[in-house]
Amino acid sequence: MDNPFIYGEIVPGAAFADREVELERLVADLTAAQKVFLISPRRYGKSSLVRRALNALSRHGALTVDLTVSSYSSYVSFLEGYARALATVETKWERARSWLADAITATRPELRYEVEDAGLGRFSVAFPAARTGREINRLANEIFALPGRLASERKRTVVVALDEFQAIDGFDGGSVEHALRAAAQQQRKVGYVFAGSEPSLMNKMIGPRRPFYKAGPVMRLDKIPAPVFAEFIEARFAASGIRAEPGLGVAFVDLGGNLPYDVQRLAHETWDDVRAAGGRRAGLENLHLTLTRLLAEQDTMFEAIWQRLTLAQRAVLRAAVLQSGRELLSADVRARHRLGGPSSIQASLAALVKQDLLQKEGPQYLVVDSLLREWIARKTY
Ligand SMILES: Nc1ncnc2c1ncn2[C@@H]1O[C@H](COP(=O)(O)OP(=O)(O)OP(=O)(O)O)[C@@H](O)[C@H]1O
Ligand SMILES: [Mg+2]
Repeated sequence: MDNPFIYGEIVPGAAFADREVELERLVADLTAAQKVFLISPRRYGKSSLVRRALNALSRHGALTVDLTVSSYSSYVSFLEGYARALATVETKWERARSWLADAITATRPELRYEVEDAGLGRFSVAFPAARTGREINRLANEIFALPGRLASERKRTVVVALDEFQAIDGFDGGSVEHALRAAAQQQRKVGYVFAGSEPSLMNKMIGPRRPFYKAGPVMRLDKIPAPVFAEFIEARFAASGIRAEPGLGVAFVDLGGNLPYDVQRLAHETWDDVRAAGGRRAGLENLHLTLTRLLAEQDTMFEAIWQRLTLAQRAVLRAAVLQSGRELLSADVRARHRLGGPSSIQASLAALVKQDLLQKEGPQYLVVDSLLREWIARKTY
């Protein structure tokens, strides 16, 4: 029996909880060729949701392309990856090659088919001659037009998912956004989902005076409702032959801060430990044993994170843990945790948010990694 819980990668159908409303809306918007912005903090489940939507869309006949913008080290390598993904969508490489060769006139593309082991090959696209800003911009305009070409030639809806879209900002300031927006706007048969995990950057990108202002619907992915997630976890335990004692699902969700990644990690690791011990039941004591193991395994890494912080930041982070992130600027909390003045606390909070250690949720500052939160509560003073 395989572990029914998955973390750190895109979750397959069976391990995917809830998100029914979000999925339906995303599929409908993309079918209608909208340009959707999907925004949430990290590890909420954007990529998994997008993958589900793309699967559903391709079952209904759409051609889908999925690219993670942040994987590319330069603008040109992103353009190469994008061109390659579009050219090879459901087609043989010979056709992909002539298709690209026809479509691209701004530079001489290098289109190769590289044979790798076991006879499997890989189509590669490179634009070594595109060097100056002007050349690259002309090339980008042609590449950004490709989805529209594809849709009209194949007479199919095309759906493009650009994940970690905030990374576009790093390539070349405003001109990429501008070119992409201008192209997408004209493509009546192409749906786009721009998914991004840095809400502040994404929000700026869709703000006034930016090219993507009012380009399309904005979806903000929330956490999965806690009771739904808890029930899902218990049902997955049961289906795998291990009975979860009542309340265990809720305990996973609580301890994991209801962050989908953290909840799945705790469930996965606990399931492993119970299975390794030959158990048929899982309860709170199993969860705590697993938690202790995980904290021990991460000890060196958490220690390094802690050492990197200034004293003021350590005090604020610890106070955030002990106060559940509330009222950190109040006189009472400041005195109790010897925090210093409000402006220095604000500076520490900003630094901790910037380092992705804390995240602001409404009035609360929550520790992003629930294991780090538990480690701070137990191992620091
Ligand atoms: N609908 C879901 N049901 C169950 N678990 C989920 C769901 N969505 C996400 N998860 C859990 O969260 C993890 C992260 O999901 P995913 O990679 O889709 O999130 P993300 O928002 O794209 O994260 P990142 O910002 O790091 O790219 C998954 O590996 C899985 O453990
Ligand atoms: Mg993702």
